[in-house]
Amino acid sequence: MNKSILIIGACGQIGTELTLKLREINGINNVIASDIREGSKELMQSGPFEFINAMDYHSILAIIEKYSINEVYLMAAMLSATGEKFPAKAWELNMNSLFNVLNIAKEGKIQKVFWPSSIAVFGPTTPKENTPQETIMEPSTVYGISKQTGERWCEYYFNKYGVDVRSIRYPGIISWKTNPGGGTTDYAVEIYHNALLLGKYNSFLNKETKLPMMYMDDAIEATIQIMDAKPENIKVRSSYNLAAMSFTPEEIAQEIKKIVPEFKISYHSDFRQKIADSWPKSIDDSRAREDWGWKHQFNLKKMSESMLHSLKIKYDVL
Ligand SMILES: NC(=O)c1ccc[n+]([C@@H]2O[C@H](COP(=O)([O-])OP(=O)(O)OC[C@H]3O[C@@H](n4cnc5c(N)ncnc54)[C@H](O)[C@@H]3O)[C@@H](O)[C@H]2O)c1
Repeated sequence: MNKSILIIGACGQIGTELTLKLREINGINNVIASDIREGSKELMQSGPFEFINAMDYHSILAIIEKYSINEVYLMAAMLSATGEKFPAKAWELNMNSLFNVLNIAKEGKIQKVFWPSSIAVFGPTTPKENTPQETIMEPSTVYGISKQTGERWCEYYFNKYGVDVRSIRYPGIISWKTNPGGGTTDYAVEIYHNALLLGKYNSFLNKETKLPMMYMDDAIEATIQIMDAKPENIKVRSSYNLAAMSFTPEEIAQEIKKIVPEFKISYHSDFRQKIADSWPKSIDDSRAREDWGWKHQFNLKKMSESMLHSLKIKYDVL
């Protein structure tokens, strides 16, 4: 059967690049982008787009029927830092959107669902180094609580109704095309922009805050890989741990200095420090590697070279 894909929340940091990649693989007209707002020029000009509110079951269903969609990638969510400012809204969006898509799958109207979870499912009582797939999970942010609850519901819909839902616990995602959407790891994106444009950056996390991170290319690769895997190879139906690298603001600054020698970093932590302190420092993703062959490509050095090279072209500072 030909793939006919709907991406909800396609204009965000991950949705934009996911849409472009899926269009490259599956053909422009087989991948429908949707969001409550318009996205970048590149995204809007790359193929079909529909306005969808992920909290409105009927508007999702109407588009699924219009294009005979069989796979949905649900990327709409309120992220960790914004979620702490609007906890009720974060809960409402993150849970209602998931139920809408899971119920449409349960009714047999689509065959496969991708829904991203996050390292925010872990909390202060979780082992911090090499955090296992199965461990203590007591998230302390509304975002983390919504993701952990979402994971339980995904597993429940798989076990009870046979819904083929697949999920990854993304670490902090670093990219240059689209700005990040209000997460705690956004500093690791802003730092590259500021290094090139201003030669300095004031970090909102302190210098020894080590967090798991991943370059966008790897995140997109993992997403497509888990969706293409045979169903019997997806043995975790809550969400898979996924990792590539871990670093501190001080370490990323050192790496940037190798390319931008005049770069200077300062530190002024804010409310996001507490969120970061509750998360793991590194992740054990051996299950994803064993079950569906996950393998990352980018470490801190390779990512920094690629980020700065791409941003130099974007900002015309070559
Ligand atoms: N970026 C990261 O570092 C990261 C890390 C872990 C998990 N995730 C998860 O990955 C997914 C995508 O994250 P992202 O960074 O691209 O987020 P983002 O904030 O950049 O994008 C989210 C998109 O959803 C859209 N949206 C918001 N409300 C909507 C609604 N009611 N209906 C339809 N669309 C709506 C927004 O307009 C935005 O374009 C989220 O589930 C997020 O929790 C992201």
